[in-house]
Amino acid sequence: MAAFPFRIDARDGRARTGMIQTPRGEIRTPAFMPVGTAGTVKALTVDQVRQAQADIILGNTYHLMLRPTAERVARLGGLHKFMRWDGPILTDSGGFQVMSLSKISKVKEEAVTFQSHLDGSRHVLSPERSIEIQADLLGSDIVMQLDECVAWPAEEPRAAEGMRLSARWAERCKAAFGARDTQALFGIQQGSVYEPLRRESAERLIEIGFDGYAIGGLAVGEGHAAMCEVLDFAPAMLPDERPRYLMGVGKPIDIVEAVARGVDMFDCVLPTRSGRHGQAWTWDGPINLKNARFAEDEAPLDEASPCPASSAYSKAYLHHLVRADEILGQVLLSWHNVAFFEGLMAALRQAIAEGRLDAFRKDFAARQ
Ligand code: GUN
Repeated sequence: MAAFPFRIDARDGRARTGMIQTPRGEIRTPAFMPVGTAGTVKALTVDQVRQAQADIILGNTYHLMLRPTAERVARLGGLHKFMRWDGPILTDSGGFQVMSLSKISKVKEEAVTFQSHLDGSRHVLSPERSIEIQADLLGSDIVMQLDECVAWPAEEPRAAEGMRLSARWAERCKAAFGARDTQALFGIQQGSVYEPLRRESAERLIEIGFDGYAIGGLAVGEGHAAMCEVLDFAPAMLPDERPRYLMGVGKPIDIVEAVARGVDMFDCVLPTRSGRHGQAWTWDGPINLKNARFAEDEAPLDEASPCPASSAYSKAYLHHLVRADEILGQVLLSWHNVAFFEGLMAALRQAIAEGRLDAFRKDFAARQ
């Protein structure tokens, strides 16, 4: 029995909409998870994150194990209490961040060894330690297996090696996690752009048995078209009745196309990172508030939005804040962007429920 019930309410082509029931609340799917790497969705209070309509946020093993350390978070009552977020939290397992952030890393069968990007100190992350940090110390609701995401582009033998190591680590993660009813464990499919490797990865994960299945190793430089080609076959290899999560994606257009191909969950730093750089996402694509054309634009970013950052402040004011490098500009644009991504997910859910996802996709693409 899987830990969290996943109910599919409607389907449109390969897309689905429904709900994941967790002890800390419902996750409406397709879902977007704002990234709260270091115990904070950057620039936002948890109340703002909630007001932006996020059901679940993401946290990172890598950052929290280095600072303030997983043991300290545990002594302080776990990640939910520490950061004052009482909804579900999904934590990434650390492997991906080790590869992208640490100064030096070495992947071996037993574990990955790396040097902290903060102070150069040496650390070891094994599948068992990643599970202990996520499930026992941080108290994550959705725990990710430790995996190896090979850099893109990868030749097939190298992609196969990373995928097979990830499959062996998946088994060790499952054994370390055991059986729990209040926390879920997700496996991660690897295999780069190679269909036979994606197939083998999916089969090995299904054999082990997970509560949900992620698609890893994408959005690593291959581009939108190549990613869509992989998504033409990868999600369908994963169990229909469990949630499918595309890791680290993406731009709104990437999300729309992945939802149409059967993906249920997403996470990305894009809304908060671009918000800190003066960028706002809109139904007509991204705009930069620094641009002089907004200097006297009295209209808000989105008057129909339930988020105050989107509906109650003029673009002229946001332009001024960005130009003056005022911290409130970063806060309001991060808040608006998270609300925009959540609004996009709500619109996708409604389009699927009403059987008009194709028209939505075409209209959305035409406006970007
Ligand atoms: N975030 C984005 N891509 C990946 C991936 O392939 N693996 C993990 N663990 N996290 C990711």
